[in-house]
Amino acid sequence: MSHFKAIILAAGRGVRMKSDTPKVLHKVAGRPVLEYVLDITKALRSLTTYVVVGHGANEVKKSVGNSVHYVLQDKLLGTGDAVRRAGPFLKNFNGTVLVLCGDTPLLETVIVSRLLAKHQQLKAAATVLTAIVKEPYGYGRIVRDRLGNFGAIREHKDASENELKINEINVGVYCFKAQALFNTLKSVKLNPKKKEYYLTDVIELLLAKEETVATVTTDDETAGFGVNTREDLAQAEKVIRTRILKKLMADGVSIIDPATTYVEAGVKIGHDTVLYPCTFIEGDVTIGKKCQIGPFAHLRPGTRIADNATIGNFTEVSRTKVGRNVMMKHFSFLGDATVGNDVNIGAGTITANYDGKDKNKTVIGDGAFIGSDSILIAPLTIGKKAMVGAGSVVARGKNIPAGMLAVGVPARVIKKVAKGKI
Ligand code: UD1
Ligand code: MG
Repeated sequence: MSHFKAIILAAGRGVRMKSDTPKVLHKVAGRPVLEYVLDITKALRSLTTYVVVGHGANEVKKSVGNSVHYVLQDKLLGTGDAVRRAGPFLKNFNGTVLVLCGDTPLLETVIVSRLLAKHQQLKAAATVLTAIVKEPYGYGRIVRDRLGNFGAIREHKDASENELKINEINVGVYCFKAQALFNTLKSVKLNPKKKEYYLTDVIELLLAKEETVATVTTDDETAGFGVNTREDLAQAEKVIRTRILKKLMADGVSIIDPATTYVEAGVKIGHDTVLYPCTFIEGDVTIGKKCQIGPFAHLRPGTRIADNATIGNFTEVSRTKVGRNVMMKHFSFLGDATVGNDVNIGAGTITANYDGKDKNKTVIGDGAFIGSDSILIAPLTIGKKAMVGAGSVVARGKNIPAGMLAVGVPARVIKKVAKGKI
């Protein structure tokens, strides 16, 4: 595939989200909607990606960072105007321009790859991605003549009664010859109903000039699914979540009840690990092989769990490293902790990591045994093979040396318990 540059339209207000946050920054499975679209341009190695920003421009820039170029659309005058704003940056570019919308998190790379391939193979002036859907309401319709030749994209608001029955829709993803696009955009007129310049009008104008305009059609109903409302956001979440869980299962993870298992994007889990129902695993979590997680476990960002560990019911783990063979079976919280191998975390153990000002660290050495209902006030180190008696409160900084037993409230070290060399 030869080179291309991409323009992602992300300036829209997203009025129907009723939110202070720009629409494209709302999260699906823990990642902003726009990131999913950027995955595609990255995977297909776009030479340069221009993101058109407008509403909440600074927030979007801050979230995405400087791996892309930004084009400001200070007045939201429609998709045609948004693309036109990128024109000056592409003045000397004669290759392919891929245009995507920033609010379509379900679009998959393979489909866009097919679109690019066909566009370049046909040397077309434009190639439009279309989809056959059951519910075409609101989308631009693909108007064809009796022979099936592509004639125009008709926006829902401008469509006749017959055109509204068409179930082939414009996904909102296009390839163009760069200069054909920007030259034709000059002739696009303001739509009188919406008071916007439509990118889709470029198609009819190109056809009038007898340029080649092709289509690639997908039967993936979700390809063009745009997030416009909170309900859409929840639907997108469901689709992405199912994709994440399917991939984990294909890689050898058992998921007892996918309907109640929430795993965000970016989570890594080793094979033969079992996820029990009602488990919520946020992004940036890594779990090893042969672990048991849940039911009712909440693993938060920065958590690393080594092989063969058990994180049982009513547990929360945050910014914590858990070693091999650790048993933490019932109602416990570990935060900002490093737990060695072969440690037992008794029922109800809590690391008190936050003192109202700072988050403090707890270190628990290999082979330590923490009795039930213990409170470990950080910063604190529990040595290797040390023991904490049930119901103890270990005060901050009162480190327990390796192999020693501490009990009580506040806990006092009373004797050596570990046998042999530690
Ligand atoms: C657009 C298409 C429609 C297609 C649908 C697919 C046009 C005229 N219509 O309609 O044919 O079926 O997408 O989802 O293009 N944006 C800007 N600046 C603007 C306006 C919009 O950057 O001035 C961005 C939005 O942030 C969004 C994208 O462009 O990411 C699409 O805009 P939107 O208003 O959602 O277009 P639709 O009405 O959905
Ligand atoms: Mg839209």
